Amino acid sequence: MATELFYISGTGNSLHTAKELQKKLTDVRLIPLAAVKNEEKLKTEGDIVGFVFPVHFMTAPSIVFRILERMDMNSAEYVFAVATRYGTPCNVMYKQFDQILKKKGKSLNSYITITMANNDPKFKFWKPASKQALDVFEALLQEKLDLLCTCIMKKEDYHETDREATFKVNPAAERLGVLAATLTGDGKEAFYSDSNCIGCGLCEKVCPSTKVRIVDGKPQWLKNEDCYSCYACLNFCPQHAIQIGSSKIMKFYTEVNGRYHHESISADEIASQKMTGD
Ligand SMILES: Cc1cc2nc3c(=O)[nH]c(=O)nc-3n(C[C@H](O)[C@H](O)[C@H](O)COP(=O)(O)O)c2cc1C
Repeated sequence: MATELFYISGTGNSLHTAKELQKKLTDVRLIPLAAVKNEEKLKTEGDIVGFVFPVHFMTAPSIVFRILERMDMNSAEYVFAVATRYGTPCNVMYKQFDQILKKKGKSLNSYITITMANNDPKFKFWKPASKQALDVFEALLQEKLDLLCTCIMKKEDYHETDREATFKVNPAAERLGVLAATLTGDGKEAFYSDSNCIGCGLCEKVCPSTKVRIVDGKPQWLKNEDCYSCYACLNFCPQHAIQIGSSKIMKFYTEVNGRYHHESISADEIASQKMTGD
């Protein structure tokens, strides 16, 4: 059984998850969504097809849905999704996913969420504070992936009942939240670099899109290029010089909150998303 695992990751949580999943299944190809997004004919070849991505604004990054919409998935006999997040509910997202698949005569056979560190400085940064706490989260990740793999191998459906969301949201409110976030969130952030920027170009390198370009020694976020709201540029900046400035409150948060990336994932691995599969 061949598995194709499509992923996108800004700061490594989803990439770490995808790599761990790859170890647990046989014959798995990791395919970065950023590398295939411009392919004219997007066609799966595996009989098992999975997607690993971060939750953004209570749903999946728009690149995930855009690619899913136009992907020929005839080969897929089993489809699953793994969403990494810091803790909001994301039930609407799985319905959105399933609706797109239904149009192709498929369905979302399994889905799980994995709670990991938050990489969004608009909300207080959170990551396990000690090695012990980190180990607990890693153990939970492994446990969930094992459960998913058992279902994949048996070709059984598994729809997670979301018991771990940090706060409960009424389903109607969740739908409204996702609608509002879709209109105002993904790809619409006003990034800028402050006077601490040394023009090292790491932001351009790690951007999984072609949004960031160094011009005259400083990053510019090009207007007509896609932004996946992954925050790789902001989080990997060694000078903490990248801020979001669309309002005073946001500016405040990105200036005072820390920066995050998963400890096992390097800037080079994030950068390579726009170039390669393995
Ligand atoms: C712009 C943005 C929006 C986010 N929105 C949510 C959210 O609505 N709910 C949630 O639980 N986590 C949210 N997060 C946190 C990420 O989903 C989480 O940290 C994820 O594991 C990051 O994965 P990555 O390192 O692969 O990019 C958001 C992060 C960013 C950058």
